[in-house]
Amino acid sequence: MVMAFLLIIGLSFLLMAGTLTNMLSNYLFRERIRQDRAGLEKWAVQTASSLYTANSIQMNASVLQASGELGGRLLLLDADGKIHMDSFGLLNGTRLSVPEVVSILVGGKQVDYGVHEESGELVSDTGKVFNRGSNQNWTSLSSAGIVFESEVIGVLVLLSSVSEMMNSLYTLQTRMTIIFVLVATAAIISGMVFSGILTRPIGVLTKGIQRMGRGDFSARVPETGSGEIKQMAQAFNSMSGKLESMDKTRNQFVSDASHELKTPLATMKIMIESLIYQPDMEEGLRTEFLSDVNKEIDRLSAIVGDLLTLVRADGKSVKLDRSRMFLSDVVEDAAHRLRMLADKKSQTLNLELHEMGEIYADKARIDQVVYNLMENAVKYTQEGGTITVTLTKQGREAQLTIEDNGPGIPEDNLTHVFERFYRVDKARGRESGGTGLGLAIAQQMINLHSGTIQVESEEGKGTKFIVLLPLNKG
Ligand SMILES: Nc1ncnc2c1ncn2[C@@H]1O[C@H](COP(=O)(O)OP(=O)(O)O)[C@@H](O)[C@H]1O
Ligand SMILES: [Mg+2]
Repeated sequence: MVMAFLLIIGLSFLLMAGTLTNMLSNYLFRERIRQDRAGLEKWAVQTASSLYTANSIQMNASVLQASGELGGRLLLLDADGKIHMDSFGLLNGTRLSVPEVVSILVGGKQVDYGVHEESGELVSDTGKVFNRGSNQNWTSLSSAGIVFESEVIGVLVLLSSVSEMMNSLYTLQTRMTIIFVLVATAAIISGMVFSGILTRPIGVLTKGIQRMGRGDFSARVPETGSGEIKQMAQAFNSMSGKLESMDKTRNQFVSDASHELKTPLATMKIMIESLIYQPDMEEGLRTEFLSDVNKEIDRLSAIVGDLLTLVRADGKSVKLDRSRMFLSDVVEDAAHRLRMLADKKSQTLNLELHEMGEIYADKARIDQVVYNLMENAVKYTQEGGTITVTLTKQGREAQLTIEDNGPGIPEDNLTHVFERFYRVDKARGRESGGTGLGLAIAQQMINLHSGTIQVESEEGKGTKFIVLLPLNKG
């Protein structure tokens, strides 16, 4: 781009300089030719009769006077190109065969003009004529035919120096060339510096993108500069930051999932090996081992099922099978299923379900969420505890709270309970048969239904989960 720019600038500068010198030289020469020609023609007329009558005295007087008036050396030639009179008195009797004379005597022109460098190019039959010994001398040669009774009988030639004019034109040209070279150099240097400054941040950004392309999400670029480049750098950094954290979460998830799957597998392996290597194992123990293996298989399939639920909803490919339903039905159903467990722990399970409208939701998923929350409350609350489930209307939302007076969740764990595989008490959680995915799934499902889920807890006093779901309009 810079090169194209320079090329355009350079060409237009050259064109402009060329046109300018051309115009100037045209103007100067035209003026000169006009002056010379007017004078010459006048004197051609005046010398015509003296040339025709071969009146040398008169010719001499005329040529000298004309030379003084026109400010140059004057030559009077006859029809053969022989010099009759030289105002310098040097070339009398010699022949001058320059193009400007030939064009009049042979070519039939009325007037002619030419510029010669004094290098011996301009010759009479005696050789070099005008060489005055100094170089860079330019002579203009203006000629006019002398006509007598419509017959060309000679030529009047005016020689005058145009060195000054030519030299000043040359100087102008040289100066312009120098200026052009200087300007072009400056333009190239500044162009290179400028484009360097402009493209450097883009280069840095490209390197960052390449690093990220190779899977290195820690790539960040400096957010320097201004305008679009800076915005681009910021956008890149925020993107790579998100990707990095996503990558970390994913890795964590995979390692957690593997760990969770490995534990029941290891347990099963030990028990099955015992069964293999102790063929004479007592019947009761064998049955116990086998039922333990069966439990581990149940755990494994529970984990795999929960993982599938989570991953499907992650990919946003989950389709909610919505219908109008009463949240109270779901709560009552879950309570029914949990009654036995609660009774076994001598817990009180209170339901305070207030009359309110329907919600528009996926029944199976809401069921899963409500059951998990209530199961957690029963599971983690000590024997003799109380669990209260309340359903109320809050504006346009249904509010479901599940409260217990169990052990509570320590404050620093509270923010993590919705994370995958997070358990407050790792050993106890696993032994209680949970997958550690229940709350993560609950949050995801509630979010999919445009609802919210929150937790409040105080260690030693109890825990309260609050779910808000939009009520069906109309
Ligand atoms: N009502 C509650 N009282 C105390 N702790 C709870 C309660 N509900 C959940 N938790 C804690 O939150 C963790 C995550 O719960 P969840 O995701 O359902 O996993 P899981 O029940 O399979 O362990 C539980 O392991 C438990 O430590
Ligand atoms: Mg649970």
